[in-house]
Amino acid sequence: MSKKIFSGVQPTGNLHLGNYLGAIKNFVELSKDKKNQCIFCVVDLHSITTKQDPKKLRDNIYETVASFIASGIDPKKNIIFNQSRVPAHSEAAWILSCVARMGWLNRMTQFKEKAGKDKEKASVGLYSYPILMAADILLYDATHVPVGDDQKQHLELSRDIAQKFNNEFKVENFFKTPDPLIQKDFSRIMSLKDGLKKMSKSDSSDASRINLTDNKDQIINKIKKAKTDTFPMPKDTEELKSRPEARNLISIYSSLTNTKIDQNIEILSGKNFSEFKESLSQVLVDKIEPITKEIKKLLNDRSYIEQILDEGSKKANEIASKKIKEIHKIVGF
Ligand code: AMP
Ligand code: TRP
Repeated sequence: MSKKIFSGVQPTGNLHLGNYLGAIKNFVELSKDKKNQCIFCVVDLHSITTKQDPKKLRDNIYETVASFIASGIDPKKNIIFNQSRVPAHSEAAWILSCVARMGWLNRMTQFKEKAGKDKEKASVGLYSYPILMAADILLYDATHVPVGDDQKQHLELSRDIAQKFNNEFKVENFFKTPDPLIQKDFSRIMSLKDGLKKMSKSDSSDASRINLTDNKDQIINKIKKAKTDTFPMPKDTEELKSRPEARNLISIYSSLTNTKIDQNIEILSGKNFSEFKESLSQVLVDKIEPITKEIKKLLNDRSYIEQILDEGSKKANEIASKKIKEIHKIVGF
């Protein structure tokens, strides 16, 4: 079956191994299937829900595009663009914010985590963030949305918004209800310093993550220092449940080598961690180093990236502006 794929990544710097294994690796695989139509969006409007330095933001937009291409997404065969160049996203977000209910947003766990204790000080944009995400997806009639596990709840909200709009305006099937595509065993890559915390761009410790721009020595060092427990490698998958750091490192290894976790446990069982860490560093360097080099090369030619964004946003605009016109009619404008 042909799929319409849409996904977004925030240009907030430091794309890391969690982004790569949880999302981008999946984007690349989906984009190689000729039957799929893929749209990958650098969601700059989402990124300003928390404070950004304008110059850094601009650099990060370019870096995110470079990371997509360096990871293997072909910009000639897929649409790559940044959200702010397609006005329909902001417009649809407003209309959908009149369909979504406060009660739905109040349940969003990401807002609670990001807003922290002082919710009064969070931006209104951070609160309505998932509505803009629904607009992104619904404007393109996306059928499938590849994301990490942390976005599952937002995707359910997009489905609820689509259904409420369709029911309220009696336009059956106007908005498609998108399905999430979440990598089964690798949907949540954890911090290298704490196996119970998600690997994240915003973690103050750089040692907690492998960045897509880290060089060989940085990767080797970070894996050497990655937290583990004092036991030898686990004997079975059951044991992994109570050993989050071991689980995380073995998951990373399995995802990078496209192998099964239980098979790897059989091979590694009883060995010590330092041996395993050496193999892990090696596969990481083999995978990440070429991407890093390519990102650096691409960033030397900003006009090329500019051209990709220009072409991508033209194509995205064609699709999204048609949909927003239909939305206007349905709503009664
Ligand atoms: P973000 O950087 O928040 O825009 O995330 C971009 C994509 O990476 C989304 O699909 C996230 O779900 C995914 N992602 C972010 N952090 C992780 C992680 N630690 N493990 C797996 N996926 C992640
Ligand atoms: N909210 C997503 C994240 O933080 C990014 C995003 C914005 C997105 N719009 C999207 C993902 C549409 C998938 C589809 O990771």
